[in-house]
Amino acid sequence: MDKEFFSQIDRVEELLTPQAEKLDDEVLICECFCVSVGDIREACKELGAFDLKTVQDNFSLGLGCQSCIKQIDSWAHKIF
Ligand code: FES
Repeated sequence: MDKEFFSQIDRVEELLTPQAEKLDDEVLICECFCVSVGDIREACKELGAFDLKTVQDNFSLGLGCQSCIKQIDSWAHKIF
């Protein structure tokens, strides 16, 4: 057995844990204000920041039914 093999065994849990899939640009995050993943990516790239306040300030995200904000844990980590 070589050293590389053993290092892979040490990382087996990491290697078997699926990484979060990134969402396509077309996926709508906020249906009330038609804000897509691509909109958020573009704005955050231009502004150099990704946080809820930046997104809310630029897109009124969450000012409608708020379901997009309530589900933030299911999409925020899939943006970048
Ligand atoms: S889905 Fe974002 S406010 Fe309704």
